[in-house]
Amino acid sequence: MSDEKAVTIPAQSGGAALTKDAAPGDTLLKVTGLQKHFPIRKGLLQRQVGAVRAVDGLDFEVRAGETLGVVGESGCGKSTMGRLITRLLEPTGGKVEFEGKDITHLGVGGMRPLRRDVQMIFQDPYSSLNPRHTIGTIVGAPFKLQGVAPEGGIKKEVQRLLSVVGLNPEHYNRYPHEFSGGQRQRIGIARALALNPKLVVADEPVSALDVSIQAQVVNLLDDLQEELGLTYVIIAHDLSVVRHVSDRIAVMYLGKIVELADRESLYSAPMHPYTKALMSAVPIPDPKRKNAKSERILLKGDVPSPISPPSGCRFHTRCWKATEICRTTEPQLLELKPGQRVACHHPENFEDQAPQDTVLLTVAKEAAELVADEVLAESAETSAAVAAQVEATEAAEASEATETAAESEPEDSAPEAAEESESTEPDTAETDTTAPKATDK
Ligand SMILES: Nc1ncnc2c1ncn2[C@@H]1O[C@H](COP(=O)(O)OP(=O)(O)OP(=O)(O)O)[C@@H](O)[C@H]1O
Ligand code: SF4
Ligand SMILES: [Mg+2]
Repeated sequence: MSDEKAVTIPAQSGGAALTKDAAPGDTLLKVTGLQKHFPIRKGLLQRQVGAVRAVDGLDFEVRAGETLGVVGESGCGKSTMGRLITRLLEPTGGKVEFEGKDITHLGVGGMRPLRRDVQMIFQDPYSSLNPRHTIGTIVGAPFKLQGVAPEGGIKKEVQRLLSVVGLNPEHYNRYPHEFSGGQRQRIGIARALALNPKLVVADEPVSALDVSIQAQVVNLLDDLQEELGLTYVIIAHDLSVVRHVSDRIAVMYLGKIVELADRESLYSAPMHPYTKALMSAVPIPDPKRKNAKSERILLKGDVPSPISPPSGCRFHTRCWKATEICRTTEPQLLELKPGQRVACHHPENFEDQAPQDTVLLTVAKEAAELVADEVLAESAETSAAVAAQVEATEAAEASEATETAAESEPEDSAPEAAEESESTEPDTAETDTTAPKATDK
């Protein structure tokens, strides 16, 4: 298929307003103590015998116009968090406020008007589109569900949305299987944009896609944000994608946020050992880090079960800095530097929060292992490829914009998307178990 084009965003039909109520920087969504515990039931009577503590006390806010990246290993509760804030799931505890309104326990009816403002793009573009429905039906469904009649009719509006996401509007009657992964994800994006939302939660929007296609979709999301004034929460399993698009980044581990900071602070001076672990998996072209190459270490041990998370700091079973206090006392998420919140007793790049407690736990002595750079090469490749593509596309777009401005008639020579791989192989988190250098101070 070669119907993907560089993005040009046509004006909304009927001049629909693109301005949003909240001013940039205002709090759009606020989450306090958010929890989701999935009950585990057993026996004939289906008695509850335990719970999966998928999300276990999150506090954060999303500001209008920003992109908040959320990263963490598989199973740490990212998708559950996404479904909670879009209220596709009912929270077990805590509070979700959207534009100052408490929406924590709104029912279907109460949520209906909000469904227009908050949309989700799902993790897997292969399973999230109904194979029996045409693209027209899929992208047009939100209008029918909300009883909204767009000016000019649904068909015209769907075709406009298809061209907004770089697809051929004539493919309105085609079925999902006729599209490649990247194109399907564009269809998912078109559907999410149909009702002109304020907040879009994108759950690993590119992890099932080929690396070259990842950059195109990331760029599309970026362009749409600028054009439509969108606010994003973008979920990813490592930093290779979100680092290029996020204003702030929240790092999750076993149902908790362990660090939340603006992108620059997080990259220049990560404070939580786990953040360093994720960063080590994605080498960053920073001259200061050059000599650290051989110090990268691999975290040992599996992620513990969210059914019975470790006591104290949940990361203490894998942390190379863990001491007794880490085992016994849960560190609170504290603002240790302006705009940088961290939950750690012995943070990096800062004074120790528990200086009296210096004896490493046995587990900490074994928590890390030196690994060869090759182990991390694949992740580095992904990161570099995405960065290169983002830069190349931005440069191409800039020169194209200049050319277009010079000509009165926009030319139809937008670079066709590269032939996409139909691979369903997800961009698995091979880097998930990698960790940082132990001695980097
Ligand atoms: N409906 C459910 N019932 C029971 N447990 C669930 C349910 N949904 C998720 N979980 C569990 O909650 C935990 C968090 O799952 P979640 O899908 O939110 O993680 P994730 O960070 O999105 O992982 P991934 O990167 O693999 O997508 C996992 O242990 C998962 O098995
Ligand atoms: S040093 Fe302690 S509190 Fe900090 S991440 Fe490691 S185990 Fe947790
Ligand atoms: Mg997920």
